[in-house]
Amino acid sequence: MVSLFSMRVPLLLVLLHAVFGSAYRWFNWQYEVTCEAEKFVTPSDEADVVEFLKNEFPKQSHIKVVGNGHGFGNLTTCVDQSLTNKTSYIVSLANLKSLEINKKNMTVTAGAGWDVYDLINVLKENGLSFNHLGAERVQNFVGALSTGTHGTGRYVDNMASQVVALRIVDARGNVKIINEWNNPEELKAFRVSIGALGLITEVTFKVQPTYLLKKTTTVLNATTNYTQLYTDIHDLYKKHDRVTVWGPHFDWDSEAQDWVIEPTFFASYWEPTNYTGVRNCTLNYCANGCGECIKNYICYDEVSDATSAPPQGVCSREFYAEIEHFWPFENFMDVAINYTKFQQSQTPRMRGFDNQEMIFQYRILKGDDSYMSPVNTYNLGPQNSGVFGVLEIDWIQSVNNYTTLWNNQGFAFEFMDKFGYEYNARAHWNKMSPYDPKFTLSAFPKLPEFLKIQEQQDPNCQFVNDFLVNQLGIDRCKEAIGQ
Ligand SMILES: Cc1cc2nc3c(=O)[nH]c(=O)nc-3n(C[C@H](O)[C@H](O)[C@H](O)COP(=O)(O)OP(=O)(O)OC[C@H]3O[C@@H](n4cnc5c(N)ncnc54)[C@H](O)[C@@H]3O)c2cc1C
Ligand SMILES: *[C@@H]1O[C@H](CO)[C@@H](O)[C@H](O)[C@H]1NC(C)=O
Ligand SMILES: *[C@@H]1O[C@H](CO)[C@@H](O)[C@H](O)[C@H]1NC(C)=O
Ligand SMILES: *[C@@H]1O[C@H](CO)[C@@H](O)[C@H](O)[C@H]1NC(C)=O
Ligand SMILES: *[C@@H]1O[C@H](CO)[C@@H](O)[C@H](O)[C@H]1NC(C)=O
Ligand SMILES: *[C@@H]1O[C@H](CO)[C@@H](O)[C@H](O)[C@H]1NC(C)=O
Ligand SMILES: *[C@@H]1O[C@H](CO)[C@@H](O)[C@H](O)[C@H]1NC(C)=O
Ligand SMILES: *[C@@H]1O[C@H](CO)[C@@H](O)[C@H](O)[C@H]1NC(C)=O
Ligand SMILES: *[C@@H]1O[C@H](CO)[C@@H](O)[C@H](O)[C@H]1NC(C)=O
Ligand SMILES: *[C@@H]1O[C@H](CO)[C@@H](O)[C@H](O)[C@H]1NC(C)=O
Repeated sequence: MVSLFSMRVPLLLVLLHAVFGSAYRWFNWQYEVTCEAEKFVTPSDEADVVEFLKNEFPKQSHIKVVGNGHGFGNLTTCVDQSLTNKTSYIVSLANLKSLEINKKNMTVTAGAGWDVYDLINVLKENGLSFNHLGAERVQNFVGALSTGTHGTGRYVDNMASQVVALRIVDARGNVKIINEWNNPEELKAFRVSIGALGLITEVTFKVQPTYLLKKTTTVLNATTNYTQLYTDIHDLYKKHDRVTVWGPHFDWDSEAQDWVIEPTFFASYWEPTNYTGVRNCTLNYCANGCGECIKNYICYDEVSDATSAPPQGVCSREFYAEIEHFWPFENFMDVAINYTKFQQSQTPRMRGFDNQEMIFQYRILKGDDSYMSPVNTYNLGPQNSGVFGVLEIDWIQSVNNYTTLWNNQGFAFEFMDKFGYEYNARAHWNKMSPYDPKFTLSAFPKLPEFLKIQEQQDPNCQFVNDFLVNQLGIDRCKEAIGQ
């Protein structure tokens, strides 16, 4: 059985293996999320996935499927080997690289192995665009979909909203085909599945003919009169449909031991265009706070290059912690002011640590009806438009000190307790979402339906981990994962 799989074991792990015996230690992108599995499994195709799961089902092995580990919390953590007597696997479907472009339906069907960056390049070569990317193109495509990854735009919804069909293998090794024309209601559960429903082997998603945007970046003045600051920012969202505000920014003043607001910050907005000249947004990505950002400029490009940075445009950073919350856009002023003030109340507890920069970032996102989408519209009232605001706060360090990171992660968790109910806020699944199943149910009213499907797909609790059990309240699985 094992010989069916090619083992991708970096040198470091070979050495660890030699010292500690049979094991595979998983790490996320910045090495603070980790767990001990028995093996890293990379099936060569869907049939291989099926055979693997059929074999492991009677043994009730723990199976955590991962993409590129580009998250900030314990979503991709496996059940540690030492906690139960079952085998624990990390599974990557990186080898599943099938691709079919269907220009009649304007859809693309891709195997789960595709990274966002490579897939977008193939689309571009074929005269196609995908209008729903996040700010950076670093994820695996299915990994990104599965958490509700999104960009910005009043009329732009998240990546998963574009999925019209998928193939998924359940714990028994049965392949299910879920699509918009045969099981549209079920598809709402499977679009954002946070790894809880099985191994997605293939997705079919909507694309459009090459689509260009004009990007305008504009420098704004900051002020600590937050009513003024956020009124100015709110006005940008009245004027433009598709905006990202990178700011305000604060720098750590080590003498004063306090955050000091930077005098300027910037916003970018995007508009449709009939431009036919040279495409030039990739001359200055400036999508993530690096590059020459604080200057007024315009550029034109294909939508993914205009809105999202490829790996070569992503600057290196030290460790960082972040929150990302989604809330009905009508709450903009209260959220912006109160989150900022609440952050300031935390600052005294940040003294003496290795902080460098703090970035607030505001986006806007169209809501949807995927059961576990952070911008699901199921509990909205008549006062809500169905559009969400998105606030991210990043705490970037001067050095990679774990003590500082854990300290900041603790602060990140505090916002949801404080504001979750008050503003109907929901956390990004892969960005510091504190455990609170009661709150999860209030913000995700379709949770019971999701958990029913979860039980059908995974009767023995092989796909869940601490995060899923504690966050979604999957009590039937506690014992199975050694809690
Ligand atoms: C620097 C940085 C910038 C980011 N920018 C944005 C942004 O602009 N917008 C945004 O929304 N998010 C952003 N994110 C978050 C990121 O998009 C999500 O965390 C995304 O889920 C990560 O994708 P991944 O491939 O690394 O998935 P992983 O973290 O490895 O996995 C994510 C989830 O998908 C599941 N999964 C993976 N593959 C499969 C499969 N084949 N079948 C079933 N389930 C599967 C996993 O089990 C897990 O639950 C950013 C993250 C970082 C670190
Ligand atoms: C992840 O889980 C570990 C082990 O339970 C815990 O120590 C750590 O704080 C968690 N990290 C986050 C970011 O939740
Ligand atoms: C694993 O099995 C051993 C021996 O059968 C037993 O002593 C131990 O308690 C078990 N551990 C767990 C976590 O179930
Ligand atoms: C195209 O769409 C139709 C339904 O409109 C569907 O039956 C068919 O399978 C689709 N083709 C592909 C390749 O997805
Ligand atoms: C910012 O302030 C400077 C003066 O300090 C002024 O010249 C500029 O016009 C202001 N910019 C905006 C966008 O208000
Ligand atoms: C802050 O800005 C608001 C809105 O412009 C204004 O009404 C208020 O007087 C300002 N407060 C202070 C202390 O300057
Ligand atoms: C593009 O050209 C079409 C046809 O001339 C016109 O209707 C449309 O308004 C133009 N769009 C933009 C954004 O200029
Ligand atoms: C991109 O090209 C346009 C049109 O020629 C020009 O106006 C703009 O300044 C260019 N932008 C950059 C960043 O070079
Ligand atoms: C949030 O802000 C508003 C004013 O913008 C204020 O009236 C309200 O009391 C604040 N709530 C909290 C919890 O701070
Ligand atoms: C990390 O920060 C803590 C707390 O400030 C400090 O005690 C520790 O020495 C630092 N570790 C490193 C490796 O710098």
